[in-house]
Amino acid sequence: MLTTRLTQAFGIEHPVVLAPMDLVSGARLATAVTTAGGLGLIGGGYGDAEWLKRELAAAAGTRVGCGFITWSLARHPEVLDVALEHQPAAVMLSFGDPAPFANRIRAAAVPLLCQVHTLDQARQALDAGADVIVAQGGEAGGHGVGMRSTFTLVPDVANLIANRSPRTLLLGAGGVADGRGLAAALALGADGVLVGTRFWATEEAVVPVRAHTRAVAADGDETIRTNVYDIVRTYDWPAEYNGRVLRNRFIDRWHGREAELTAHLAEAADEFRDAVSQQDFDIANMIVGEGVGLVQEILPAGEVVRRMTQDAADRLGRGTPRTTAISG
Ligand SMILES: Cc1cc2nc3c(=O)[nH]c(=O)nc-3n(C[C@H](O)[C@H](O)[C@H](O)COP(=O)(O)O)c2cc1C
Repeated sequence: MLTTRLTQAFGIEHPVVLAPMDLVSGARLATAVTTAGGLGLIGGGYGDAEWLKRELAAAAGTRVGCGFITWSLARHPEVLDVALEHQPAAVMLSFGDPAPFANRIRAAAVPLLCQVHTLDQARQALDAGADVIVAQGGEAGGHGVGMRSTFTLVPDVANLIANRSPRTLLLGAGGVADGRGLAAALALGADGVLVGTRFWATEEAVVPVRAHTRAVAADGDETIRTNVYDIVRTYDWPAEYNGRVLRNRFIDRWHGREAELTAHLAEAADEFRDAVSQQDFDIANMIVGEGVGLVQEILPAGEVVRRMTQDAADRLGRGTPRTTAISG
């Protein structure tokens, strides 16, 4: 329905890529997205080699890629070998300088996707030889820098690419949760989208039912960017990053009082761990973006791909997009 440079370069039917959401994007979700005509990326996350081996093996026979949190990969560089041994459809690097890993990925003839949050990071990704740049706005679920919105970052990066490296592809990320978002991203100059939150809210995502129920009831005003959960999980994120999550009682207690949280860390971390095991999302974290307000039901991932692309094609059929829209 929607043919773009991305669908042509990757030999896929739809310009929709599943975000590598840490442990949420396992083999089941990634293969569901690929089977529906998009491209699934397994979440390499913080670098659990055994988990990654298992998920890549479970996805064998279906073309999927995977993604890494770059600053964490730098501490476990051997995990990249695990990925490359499986000849992934792509490797995505987010949150850190891609340069130290870019050559190994490209030498393995694996397309390199780099997620960026600013123009400066986009320049760095082009310098590293990225095949695809993912421009993530602050609406996004999960980590980022959060200072730019998708609506301006995507065309800014599109201009940069046009001037410096026209063969490089561009994905828009952050707040794309339905056909309107996909159509808008293509109109802004992207070749496709990277979607997290909408796929988090699918049957194949590794997400507790209680979290899904809460997400369906939430609206887009209820998320917040914070580093409360990084403190409590003792994740060592570089200072410029924070993450968008659903607001809850724990956030209301600690956001803005991070020094105090650090002073009471042992107690708060125990409370957090208990809440995770009891699926108590008044305290445990739900990592979702502003697009959570557009999630009305938990669907199979393939259905999300179909609805999003059909609706975007219908909308673009009425306009004059840069991309080729063929309805049918
Ligand atoms: C639950 C969740 C976990 C995420 N984990 C990762 C991750 O491990 N690595 C990564 O590069 N991005 C991660 N992200 C960010 C996504 O790559 C992407 O930028 C974001 O989901 C796009 O915005 P959206 O959520 O509005 O679709 C995560 C996002 C969510 C919602």
